[in-house]
Amino acid sequence: MVICGRQGVMREVVLATRNQGKIREITECLRDLDIVIYSLNDFPATSAVKEDGKNFRENALKKARYLADFTGKVALADDSGLEVEALGGKPGVLSARFAGDKASDQDNNKKLLEHLKGFPLGRRGASFRCVLALAEPSGQEIVIEETCQGVILLQERGGEGFGYDPLFFFPPLNKTFAELTREEKNQVSHRGKALRKLKEALRVRGPKPSPQ
Ligand code: IMP
Repeated sequence: MVICGRQGVMREVVLATRNQGKIREITECLRDLDIVIYSLNDFPATSAVKEDGKNFRENALKKARYLADFTGKVALADDSGLEVEALGGKPGVLSARFAGDKASDQDNNKKLLEHLKGFPLGRRGASFRCVLALAEPSGQEIVIEETCQGVILLQERGGEGFGYDPLFFFPPLNKTFAELTREEKNQVSHRGKALRKLKEALRVRGPKPSPQ
């Protein structure tokens, strides 16, 4: 659990993830909001939600709705992944499981490099896509989608971030996402952009404090 901002009207948001990389990035982006942030790690009894949607939006909404029902609190789900042009948008919704159900980030990166073997840099364009779904127990929902474009390198570079970050080169900064600090990545990433939009939406209309 992370407590963000001033302790006035207590708002609570549960993040529908156990991915430490996502938890760190989301918490950092939302830290100036007046909210308490929980994650699935604070609710060990939750069941794993099957991510069987045909797109990021369906999966994000499914995860957020389940968690809002289960906890009675506002739930925020991120469904995100990498879409590589030369692979027809793959790995897409399968990004976390590209190399199999128990695949590590290293396994997935290795498989991606294998699939792109022989492709020159000019044909290695890719986008990260992030859909954020915020579900309130009352049934109100906000969905936001953002992307970030880059190029898949021939080998990994950098030690920060998570997932495909060491392979994802971002031309405007001349670095991979794994060579950026967390603040730098949040400024330009699919998730950072989506979270800034979400914050605007929350400032305008809520969420309402959870019942104590
Ligand atoms: P999800 O938990 O089903 O949304 O899976 C997201 C997967 O997409 C992660 O496990 C990563 O492999 C990949 N991914 C999403 N966002 C990022 C990012 O910001 N950097 C690197 N990989 C990411």
